[in-house]
Amino acid sequence: MKVRATLAATLLVIGATLALAIAAGQADAGESPVPDPAGSTPRPGSAAAVQLEANRDPAVVAAGEQLYLTGCVSCHGVGGKGTPGYPSLVGVGAASADFFLRTGRMPLAAPAPQAPAKPPAYTDEQIIQLVAYVASLGDGPPVPDIRPERGDLTEGAQLYLANCAACHNSTGIGGALSHGNQAPPLLNVAPTQIGEAPRVGPGQMPVFGPDTLSDEQLDSIVRYVLYLQDPEHPGGLRIGSAGPVPEGLVAWLVGLGGLVLIARWITRERREHRRAHG
Ligand code: HEC
Ligand code: HEC
Repeated sequence: MKVRATLAATLLVIGATLALAIAAGQADAGESPVPDPAGSTPRPGSAAAVQLEANRDPAVVAAGEQLYLTGCVSCHGVGGKGTPGYPSLVGVGAASADFFLRTGRMPLAAPAPQAPAKPPAYTDEQIIQLVAYVASLGDGPPVPDIRPERGDLTEGAQLYLANCAACHNSTGIGGALSHGNQAPPLLNVAPTQIGEAPRVGPGQMPVFGPDTLSDEQLDSIVRYVLYLQDPEHPGGLRIGSAGPVPEGLVAWLVGLGGLVLIARWITRERREHRRAHG
C-alpha cells in the first residue's frame, strides 16, 4: 500500500513534468519578440551590414559598374536611366537590386512578361558589387536586416494570411494571377529575399513599406514563411505538420489525459472497495 502510494506520487510528478515540458515546447514555438536596442542599425556581419559597407567603398562601386556595363546596360541604359520598354534603376535601391539578382530574375535573358526566378547568374561578391553600383544611382530602400528569430510565429501567421496568402496560397505554394502571371512559390526562397520582396514589390506584387509592415512584423512574416518551408519544430514532434493547434491538442491530451488516468489509478482501490461494499 505504501509502496503503491510512493509509486503513484512518482508517476504523478513524471506526468506533470511531461505536460509542462510539452507545453513549454509549445510556448517556445511562439515566443514573443525580443526588444532590439540597436533599432534599425544592421547587426555586424549580417547581409545588410556587409552590403551597407560595400556601398560606401568606391572600389566596390567601380567594380559593380564594370559588371553593369557588360550585363545590364543594354536594357537599363547608361547610368541606369532606363531605355524604351525597360525600367530605370535610379532610386530603386539596394533592396531591389539584391532581390532581383539573388533570386536570379536579373539579368533577363530575353524579354518576358514576368522575369522568372532562376539560379543567380553572379557570385556573391559580384552581386554585392552590382548592388553597390545600383545603390549609388540614387537613394532607395537598403537591404533589410531580416531577423526571423526576433519574429513572432503567431503574429507572422496572422500577417501572412491577411497580406500574402491571397496570392501565394496559405501554404506558400504560390498561385496563378491574371494576365498569365504567377505568384511564385515561397518554399525555396532565402530569408533576406522573403523580407525584401514586400519592400520592393516586384512585378504585380504590391509594395509593403515600413508604414504598412514594420521591421518587426516583417521578421514575423519571414519566420512564418520559414515555418511553412520546414514545418518541423526543434524539440518537438511533427504531428502531421498541421501547425500549432493540433500540437496544442496533443499537449493537452497526452499531458492532462495522462494526469487524469494516473489520478484514477491512484483512487482505484477506494472505488473498488466502495463497489464491493455497496
Ligand atoms: C534583357 C533586358 C534586361 C537585362 C539584360 C537586365 N534587365 Fe533588369 N529588368 C529588365 C526588365 C524587363 C525589368 C522589369 C521586370 C519585372 O519587373 O519583373 C527589370 C527589372 C530590374 C530591376 C527592378 C527594378 C525595380 O523597379 O525595382 C532591377 C534592380 C534590375 N532589373 C537590375 C538589373 C541588373 C543589375 C542587371 C544586370 C546584371 C539587369 N537588370 C539586366 C530587363 C533587363
Ligand atoms: C497581389 C498578389 C501578391 C501579394 C498580395 C503578395 N505577393 Fe509576393 N509576389 C507576387 C508576384 C506576382 C510575385 C512575382 C513577381 C515577379 O517575379 O515579377 C511575387 C514574388 C514574391 C517573392 C519572390 C519569390 C521568388 O521565387 O523569388 C516573395 C519572397 C514574395 N513574393 C513574398 C510575399 C510576401 C511575404 C507577401 C505578403 C507580405 C506577398 N509576397 C504578397 C504577388 C503577390
